[in-house]
Amino acid sequence: MPDGLVSPALRIPQIFFGLSQTAGLVKTLNSLISQIGDVADPRSQWFMADNLITYGHTAGFREDCRFISAVQGARPKPMELAIAWRTHTLCWAAQSCLGLEGDYVECGTYEGYSMDVVLRYLDGLPRRRCWLYDLFDPSGSAGEGKRLPEHSPALYQKVKERFQNWTNVTVTQGKVPDVLHQAMPERIAFLHIDMNNPEAELGAMELLFNRLAVGGMVIFDDYGWTGYQDQKQAADKFAAKQGLSVLELPTGQGLMLKR
Ligand SMILES: C[S@@+](CC[C@H](N)C(=O)[O-])C[C@H]1O[C@@H](n2cnc3c(N)ncnc32)[C@H](O)[C@@H]1O
Repeated sequence: MPDGLVSPALRIPQIFFGLSQTAGLVKTLNSLISQIGDVADPRSQWFMADNLITYGHTAGFREDCRFISAVQGARPKPMELAIAWRTHTLCWAAQSCLGLEGDYVECGTYEGYSMDVVLRYLDGLPRRRCWLYDLFDPSGSAGEGKRLPEHSPALYQKVKERFQNWTNVTVTQGKVPDVLHQAMPERIAFLHIDMNNPEAELGAMELLFNRLAVGGMVIFDDYGWTGYQDQKQAADKFAAKQGLSVLELPTGQGLMLKR
C-alpha cells in the first residue's frame, strides 16, 4: 500500500472506502506514482486517502502542528486518520466562526471523534457551549440511521465520558430533529451535520438554521459522496429556499455560509 505519502507525524493508511478488493488498485497507484513523481521524497507531491488522490497540492494540514497534536490527542483509529483532510476542513470552519455569537452544534456524533479533534484544535472552545446529538443505539429502522460497528446501548455513556473533561459540552441522546426540542442553543455559530440521513438532516436544518448567526457556517459531511445523493438534494433544496448554495469540497463535504 503506498502509504507514508504524508508527514510521518500523520500517516494515513486507508485510501479507499467502498472497494471490495484493493490489490489491483495498489498496483495501479504504485505504477502511477513511479511514472509521475518521486515516492522516495518524504515531502511527497502525493496525497492519497479517503477516496481522494491529489498530485502537486500542498495539503498543508500535514504540516500543521496544532492540527496534528489535536488529531493525536483524540487517539484516532486508522479510518479516522484517513479522513484527516476532512477533519482539518472542519477545524478550519469551526475556527472561522469563533468571531461570531453562538454555540457549536453537531448532529450525528457517533463516537465523538471529529468534535473531539475540533475541541482540542480550539483549546476547548472557551466561553461557549458545544451541543452533540446522536441516537447512539439506532434501531436500524428506516429514518433512524444505519447501524455502525460501535453503536450499542453503552455508546452514549462512552461518548459522555470522552467529553467529561470539557464542562461546556452537552451530549444528548435521541432522534434528530425531535430531540432538539428538548435542548438546543438559542444562538449558533457553527453547525456540523453528519447523520447519513436526509430526513433527519433536513429536519435539523429547518429547526437550527434560523438560530445560526450571519456569517456562520454549516458543514455537511456526506454532501459530495455518490452514495448520499439524497442528502445532497435535501441540502441543495434547503439552501436554495434561503437564497444560498452549498459548495462541494474535494473532501466530499459541503460548505454553506449564511449571509
Ligand atoms: C457517520 S456517523 C457520525 C460521525 C461523527 N460525526 C464523526 O465525524 O466522528 C452518523 C451518526 O448519525 C447518527 N444518526 C443518524 N440518524 C440520526 C437521527 N435521526 N438522530 C440522531 N442521530 C442520528 C447515527 O446514530 C450515527 O452515529
